[in-house]
Order: sequence, then C-alpha cells, then structure tokens
Amino acid sequence: MMTKLCKATDLAEGTSLGFLSHVGPVFAVRFDNEIYVYKNECPHLGVNLEFNEDEFLDSEGQLIQCSTHGALFSIDSGKCLSGPCQGDSLTKVDFEIIDDHITLVS
Ligand code: FES
Repeated sequence: MMTKLCKATDLAEGTSLGFLSHVGPVFAVRFDNEIYVYKNECPHLGVNLEFNEDEFLDSEGQLIQCSTHGALFSIDSGKCLSGPCQGDSLTKVDFEIIDDHITLVS
C-alpha cells in the first residue's frame, strides 16, 4: 500500500499539514528543512492533535502541540516534553520522496 501525501515543496518551512492515509490520519512537519511524519494520535487519549486544520505546532512553531490538553512534543523525536503524557512519544511514520511527493509506503 502507498499513500502520496503531497509534493514535498507544498510543505513550507515551519509549517504542518494533516492527511488521511492508508495507515490512518497522519501529519507532516517541515522544520530546519527536515521533513517529519507522525500518526495524528495523541499518546494521552489517542485523539487527533489539531483544533484547526493543518495546525499542529505551538504559537512559536518550535514544538508540536496537542490542542486537547496542551501536551508539547519535540518536532524531531516526537517525544512529549510536557503535559499529561510526558515521556511518551508520538508514533513516527516512515516515508520516501517519490516523484517529488512525500509518500508513505508499507
Ligand atoms: S489528549 Fe493530547 S494532551 Fe490530552
């Protein structure tokens, strides 16, 4: 199975985008020109993280934030740094860039 999320260039530096995929809801973040993809599932209660579409980052754009209880996660490791699930992690999703598209392959 394979899901093309978007063109890599459609994910601007310091922004995030949410998608539905064959492994369920996911989101992608570009930070310091690296791309990260995680399952859209807070380790606290298993809910989607965003309140507004495509907004997965805190107001400074430095951390991933869960909108339900405010847990904050490292963008590069997915580890929860503060909040009710501190020490737990988001689930990273492997991807490849195929034909310029961020693509989930499994
Ligand atoms: S559901 Fe995400 S912090 Fe509680």
